[in-house]
Amino acid sequence: MSDGQVTALLSRAAGLLAGAPGGAGADEPVRSVPVGELRTGVDLGTASCVLAVLDGTGQPVHVASYPSGALRDGVVVDFAAAERTVRRLRDEAERALATALTSAATAYPPCIAEPDARACRFVCEAAGFDKVTLTDEVTAAQHTLGVSDGVIVDVGGGSTGVGIFRSGRLVALADRPGGGHHLDLVLAGALGITTEEAERRKRADPRGSLPHLVPTLERIAESVRLMTADAEDLPLHIAGGALMIPGAAEVISGYLGRETVSYPHALLITPLGIARYAS
Ligand SMILES: Nc1ncnc2c1ncn2[C@@H]1O[C@H](COP(=O)(O)OP(=O)(O)OP(=O)(O)O)[C@@H](O)[C@H]1O
Ligand SMILES: [Mg+2]
Repeated sequence: MSDGQVTALLSRAAGLLAGAPGGAGADEPVRSVPVGELRTGVDLGTASCVLAVLDGTGQPVHVASYPSGALRDGVVVDFAAAERTVRRLRDEAERALATALTSAATAYPPCIAEPDARACRFVCEAAGFDKVTLTDEVTAAQHTLGVSDGVIVDVGGGSTGVGIFRSGRLVALADRPGGGHHLDLVLAGALGITTEEAERRKRADPRGSLPHLVPTLERIAESVRLMTADAEDLPLHIAGGALMIPGAAEVISGYLGRETVSYPHALLITPLGIARYAS
């Protein structure tokens, strides 16, 4: 896919998310008629759980999200809550699309223990999907971005995952703590407010918030540098929601002195890629 096609895909998905129950409403809601067989992806994130459905042409036809609170750093810590959230997302998607969704793909953060990765699949099975395929989040993001030679950096709520791709092949994966939640903690400390208020402030006043967040963004950049020491020749492609603060990606590229590519609605890159992975 060209950069323009990726941007169009993400914008369309953001419009669907805005129109979904619980949607932020920031984008123009999108309506669509699915064509062909549907593919469902479930992204069990630390900050939010996203369900995305693509039609047979690869176009998103349903995207919805709820705060998860059931995972820490991508590891399921409250199975029942995760199951409830996925079931609710699945039920709503089935109603909206007027069809049964029986299979799905889901993903785990890079480098977690195998039983933790399997737990992501069990959550989806418990929530009613009969057939669940499993991939890692960075490979999923690559399915959306189609990066052949580059580093995908997924900065989510709790952690920063990287995947190094050469000639379209994944050659290394790594993951370290550090993400949007840490930015909230630092902003809360700097301004003497709660983390919930900091989360709102970060989005409502990104310009005013950014100066407080630069040192933490540089720590995220430093951990990207350590995880990609063998790949300094490759550009960084930023996925995940945490760097959606205007100017944040520039802090990362300035610190590292590396080409950095960012995308609109970057928090949807991984969920859409998970759905592309579904059979
Ligand atoms: N518009 C925005 N501006 C700033 N930050 C944002 C914005 N939208 C989302 N975020 C931040 O992005 C983070 C969530 O990103 P994402 O959905 O990629 O994480 P996740 O997949 O839930 O977490 P993880 O991948 O670490 O398990 C949150 O910390 C949130 O504050
Ligand atoms: Mg994520």
